[in-house]
Amino acid sequence: MDKIDIMYSASHGIQFEDSILARLKSLIHHAQFIQGPEVREFESLASKYADTKNAIGCANGTDALTVALMAIDLQANDVVFTPSFTYVATAEAISILRGIPYFVDIDPISYNISPTHLEESIKDAISKGYNTKAIILVDLFGNPADYDAIKSIAKKYRLTLISDAAQSFGSMYKGVKAASIADITTTSFFPTKPLGCYGDGGMIFTNDDELAHKIRSICFHGKGEDKYHHVRIGMNSRLDSVQAIVLSEKITVFEQDLAKRNSVSDYYNFRLSNYIPTPKIEQSDRSSWAVYNLRHKNRDVIIKELADRGVPSNVYYRTPLHMQPAYKDSYKANSLTNSEQASEEVFCLPMHSMISDEQAKFIIDNLLYVLKNHG
Ligand SMILES: Cc1ncc(COP(=O)(O)O)c(C=O)c1O
Repeated sequence: MDKIDIMYSASHGIQFEDSILARLKSLIHHAQFIQGPEVREFESLASKYADTKNAIGCANGTDALTVALMAIDLQANDVVFTPSFTYVATAEAISILRGIPYFVDIDPISYNISPTHLEESIKDAISKGYNTKAIILVDLFGNPADYDAIKSIAKKYRLTLISDAAQSFGSMYKGVKAASIADITTTSFFPTKPLGCYGDGGMIFTNDDELAHKIRSICFHGKGEDKYHHVRIGMNSRLDSVQAIVLSEKITVFEQDLAKRNSVSDYYNFRLSNYIPTPKIEQSDRSSWAVYNLRHKNRDVIIKELADRGVPSNVYYRTPLHMQPAYKDSYKANSLTNSEQASEEVFCLPMHSMISDEQAKFIIDNLLYVLKNHG
């Protein structure tokens, strides 16, 4: 059996080696490494795939969030509501613009921002006189958040809804592509993401043409009529032609990749559900399974024993953001107990579309063996 030495799909795309190399050769000849025709081609493929009118490439998923907040004119001390149990980039984008991340607790089953805690937090911030501006939800681990509930809260309190879909490109909510629901959706093409490139890459989606125009300008130094005319403060954040070539090839099999990830998770669920709580995805939704997450009170012992038996695993996230040194002075809801408990218990098994049946069986046989000793 192949050694299980990768948790993720970083090496994927090997089947496109020839076509990627041929296209790179053509790129070397035409030499439009920045904003070449390949970038427009991928933007058009991604916008079609995500059922969203506009898709704008940028340098990475962190920039995508920062640009989204710049596009809605986030000002210093504006409050943005976001979960604490997420990757640091979600809050970093707010803080770097001098906004205030208001950390909200998660739902203990989906690990996504809890609509009930969200509304309580909004009321609290308003009562204290803060200028509330936006909500950034995160589809954690690839599982879509409760968009209907969160969207109606955003509407009620006139907040812009931004979806951090760095882990969930391709996920579906009630039968539609999740990337098409929020006012702005951002994603990452970091190599280990469901759709990964061969370096850094990101994208911003919106159905609002005016916002899209502004986002494109911000990504390109705030350009106006031409590249030496600047109508706003912007930044340099662009998807490059090399990454666009890789992504244009890989997106052609992305649906098959997601189907395989879903069949791996079905197998894991089937084998595990009598022994440990398995991830719960709503019937009408589809996760893109960036990772396969489990939780156990003896997590650290379990992952150590798994490693001893040759099964890699990983922990997301050992420390919720409100407990990180950099965010210790942030604003937070009264209770973030679900986030704190998840940080102590959650661990993830290998998940990608190249896991063989034999590898999946090896992973689960070993996990069941380890679990037997830990109740
Ligand atoms: C939830 C979340 N948001 C944002 C990002 C940032 O993406 P990038 O690494 O492309 O900047 C990540 C990447 O790990 C992420 O998981």
